[in-house]
Amino acid sequence: MSTGAVGRAHPRLEGREKVTGTARYAVEYPVDGVTYGWAVPATVVRGRITRIDTTDALASPSVLAVVHHGNAPRLAPGPQPELWLLQEPAVHYRGQFVAVVVATSLEAAREGARLVRIDYDAGPHSTVLAADHPGLYKPEHVNPSYPTDTAEGDFDAGYAAAPVRVDATYRTPAYHNNPMEPHATTALWHDGRLLVHDSTQGAVPVQSALAELFELPQESVRVIAEHVGGGFGSKGYAKAAVVLAALAARHVDRPVKLALTRQQLFGPIGYRTPSIQRVRLAADTDGRLTAVCHDAISQTSTVREFAEQIAVYTRSMYAAPHRRTTHRLVRLDVPTPFWMRAPGECPGAYALESAMDELAIAVGVDPVELRIRNDAQVDPDQGEPFTSRNLVACLREGAQRFGWTGRDPTPRARRDGRWLIGTGVAGSSYPARARPSSAAATARPDGTFLVRIDATDIGTGARTALWQVAADALGVPPERVEIRIGDSDLPVAPLAGGSMGTASWSWAVIRACEALRTKLREGASPGTEVSAEADTTDEVGGQPTRPRYAYGAQFVEVRVDADTGEVRVNRSLGVFAAGRVVNPTTARSQLIGGMTMGLSMALHEEGLLDERYGDWVNHDLATYHITGCADVEAVEAYWLDERDDELNPAGVKGIGEIGIVGTAAAVANAVHHATGVRIRDLPIRLDKLIGVSGLA
Ligand code: MOS
Repeated sequence: MSTGAVGRAHPRLEGREKVTGTARYAVEYPVDGVTYGWAVPATVVRGRITRIDTTDALASPSVLAVVHHGNAPRLAPGPQPELWLLQEPAVHYRGQFVAVVVATSLEAAREGARLVRIDYDAGPHSTVLAADHPGLYKPEHVNPSYPTDTAEGDFDAGYAAAPVRVDATYRTPAYHNNPMEPHATTALWHDGRLLVHDSTQGAVPVQSALAELFELPQESVRVIAEHVGGGFGSKGYAKAAVVLAALAARHVDRPVKLALTRQQLFGPIGYRTPSIQRVRLAADTDGRLTAVCHDAISQTSTVREFAEQIAVYTRSMYAAPHRRTTHRLVRLDVPTPFWMRAPGECPGAYALESAMDELAIAVGVDPVELRIRNDAQVDPDQGEPFTSRNLVACLREGAQRFGWTGRDPTPRARRDGRWLIGTGVAGSSYPARARPSSAAATARPDGTFLVRIDATDIGTGARTALWQVAADALGVPPERVEIRIGDSDLPVAPLAGGSMGTASWSWAVIRACEALRTKLREGASPGTEVSAEADTTDEVGGQPTRPRYAYGAQFVEVRVDADTGEVRVNRSLGVFAAGRVVNPTTARSQLIGGMTMGLSMALHEEGLLDERYGDWVNHDLATYHITGCADVEAVEAYWLDERDDELNPAGVKGIGEIGIVGTAAAVANAVHHATGVRIRDLPIRLDKLIGVSGLA
């Protein structure tokens, strides 16, 4: 019996702790005898360390050690080579951490890091992605395990025969994840066991990585991540901070706190790869797609292959008989790219949803209508019906709420003084996956319940959502339920990533609560504590594989200063079909957060790499621009009341990433509508608008 907790707006359970500063983040735990680590980055791009002089650094009485490849504890080669830190003199990219200074104060560690002298032998490097780079190759698959290329029908023939064609190349720069809380760790060794408080999206992946690197049994490593100040994908796996802190703590035999600086986040933690994407669309004179091709180029490092699934979005979004997608990569002397909110879908949707706008104009069909005409209820890629696909309903409801009807498609038709006004639309989709999880539920003699699961709340409200799910599954008011998450000692659960958290965790929570209720019904003795556990591995693994996605439609109004080219977003509005919404308060904040990050991608964010220096030159928040509150004038998120019983017991599709998918295209499409200028390389900066159009 549901108590109606799911679907009800509720503030975050830990909200008060957070705003009063009592919620503890990774380096805020009080620890006896603690020391501080400061990471030292390489200052060459590619080469070898020939000498490390630690004399000056060690002259400070507060500095305990300089840990580097010559003296660091040994690590086993682990699953991710970029974590094999301080093990060899080789430098693979500028900014690679090559030493850690450990001191009794943070200030002394920082000063010590400044005093470490390192000599290098440096060789030539290649750090810039180009469509004609001689190193382009075809990876075996793209993330997480999609085919690299797909082909159906005969794209070339279909394209050549069509009356309407679009052929456009879009570019996106490197984007850097900037969670409020940097990557940070407190590491403690005790009797050969390692305890870390880590800022991560998943305690289990960190636990596994540390166990492999330090050659420990998994149970000898405990990872606690009770509160996490954002991740966006960058904390989806063990990263440098936790490895460096653990190495340093073992070396000095004392607890170590290590937080990366803001500047150190730009590269070593991973970033969204830059991309070059050619999209070709062909249609009949009614705008029905006949041929679609998406060729994506992106980069990886020399350390490990990371193949972002950029063109995968195009495989399942719109129907067409002739289809082709390809991915090519270049290994550059750069840090390994990593996940950033909606990896693949986000950059891919910018290109495809921009090209759809170009097609709408070429064929003279309204861009909302064009998308409706090309909707697919059967997945064009898999050939199977979607479990539910409500893109059309999102487009229709969005058009109505936004006031799209009657829009004059003519560019530069609306003007308000110096401001040119335009509106744009884009579709969104993101896979609705789930992973196996386990959970435990306990009934206490006092009538309260404890639910335990190693889920992670990276700021999304996951803790609160699971508490609501548990209350309904137990059939009791949520006030009687306590939820415990964020600790690898709790029942094993997957990371907060891929918009899979709530779907995966709630599955196990519901099953554990059901098992507990069965036990209670079967007459557990009153006055004793009763517990039940559930593991959903078989159930999740045995799921039918029909394609499943969340969908959305994004509408944007912009104004562009006709004299200066300044772009402001007056309004963004998204309507999403993302299954059941557990908590409207936290769901809304995920969706508008994603849309805001998409606005940031459209207008502001850009990693600027200087080939001579071999690194990004803008690596702080003063020079790498991120949308601030004043840039977001009105943002509205709505959702359909969608029921899809094939997904998972909670009926959720995931909402962490769908909000960013399509936003940048909607902005670019609106800018075109306002100005007549099509920007095909993000971000949409005013110099691009001034130079191209002579707007005034
Ligand atoms: Mo998300 S980029 O899968 O953490």
